[in-house]
Amino acid sequence: MLPIESLSNSLYSNGVARFMAHFAKLFPDIHMKDLTVDVAGPGREVTIDGHKVINFGCDSFLGLDRDPRVWDSLKKGIDRWGSHNGASRMFNSVRSNVDAENKIAEWLGTEASVIYPSVTLANAGVIPGLVTKGDVIVCDEFAHNSIQEGIKIAKANGTRSFVFKHNNLQDLERKLEEAKPYKHALITIDGVYSMSGSLPKLKEMHALALKHNAILYVDDAHGTGVMGKHGRGTVMDNLGHYENTLVIGSLSKAFSCMGGFVGCPKSMQDLLKIRSNSYIFGGPVAPCYLDAICTVIDILQSDEYEQLQDKLNENLSTLVSGAQDLGLIVLGGHTPIISILVEDEANCLRAGKMLFDLGCYVQSVAFPAVPYRAAVLRIQVNANHDLAQIRNLVAALGEVQKVIELPNVRAKLAA
Ligand SMILES: Cc1ncc(COP(=O)(O)O)c(C=O)c1O
Repeated sequence: MLPIESLSNSLYSNGVARFMAHFAKLFPDIHMKDLTVDVAGPGREVTIDGHKVINFGCDSFLGLDRDPRVWDSLKKGIDRWGSHNGASRMFNSVRSNVDAENKIAEWLGTEASVIYPSVTLANAGVIPGLVTKGDVIVCDEFAHNSIQEGIKIAKANGTRSFVFKHNNLQDLERKLEEAKPYKHALITIDGVYSMSGSLPKLKEMHALALKHNAILYVDDAHGTGVMGKHGRGTVMDNLGHYENTLVIGSLSKAFSCMGGFVGCPKSMQDLLKIRSNSYIFGGPVAPCYLDAICTVIDILQSDEYEQLQDKLNENLSTLVSGAQDLGLIVLGGHTPIISILVEDEANCLRAGKMLFDLGCYVQSVAFPAVPYRAAVLRIQVNANHDLAQIRNLVAALGEVQKVIELPNVRAKLAA
């Protein structure tokens, strides 16, 4: 056996790959991972394996991925720049890089911003770029995987790290005390927890950061473009300022383009550019997307944003109240991501497949993306779903409930 074959054999017999393979083998008909969409549109209609379904697994919350103005900017961007700007931004930027960073900062209300090719690469570059030996990171246990990966790199450079219980202020303070003495400390959290839709206690965490000489680092990938006035995100919505706070945002979700960014003080902008390896050693977001990002900001800053928000909220509240009327346990709901608790992994896969057969694609999320026996149906509501599609999803959930045991609020209360 070649070493490369031996390597893949041993990887398949361990950890996540083994768990996934086990489920795929046990439930070949309902293990809907790695699906391929053959046709997308109009709206949220997609065709998968010849089967037309409504996509409830799309992060383009405002529906701007189908907006002709965004497409037009992409096309004009290609006419202007071609498909790529040719080099790492460490060597040179194109005008659109600079324009988009300035425009993001102006819209967000930060002094400056730096764009990375994705939020994952922002976290991989910014976190290790900020801290070093003598510094610490204190991280929420449920912070996004890309934050945790950024922390691993920082640890390899000598930074110490601590984990606090999800959203638990007492534990956060305990861990900050335990971590002392330190020179600088980062508290790393999500702005919206993407698997449950829960929100962090930002005001209290900001106060704790100041009390303990730490900096708040908020990955608001899911809040960007949908939370707060003009979609400026969770931090501005809850704190009303960015004092002592770094915010990471996504350009790939509500923005429907490509990339991630950090909103930061001017003094940090140049520092991050020379201290983030993912910025220095990797290629940037293609310029046509930067032009489209500027178009999206114009939409967010216009009156149209409120109309998009109203539509999104109407869809969201119809789904949440419909699922609650069925007695289902609904997690989240403050943002366009809601999760229906299923608990059992196999039931979650079965429920996802049954919904698919009824014309609704939602994501069945199981361990290790969520804790074991805490599987959920994750539903992303978009502004360009129509009410009939939302009502069909509620009806389909009702059908699923008749044949698959889903945790029920009334049963839990009675127990
Ligand atoms: C909090 C958070 N950070 C980072 C990411 C990854 O973003 P990207 O796809 O831009 O790498 C996600 C994706 O869902 C997320 O929820």
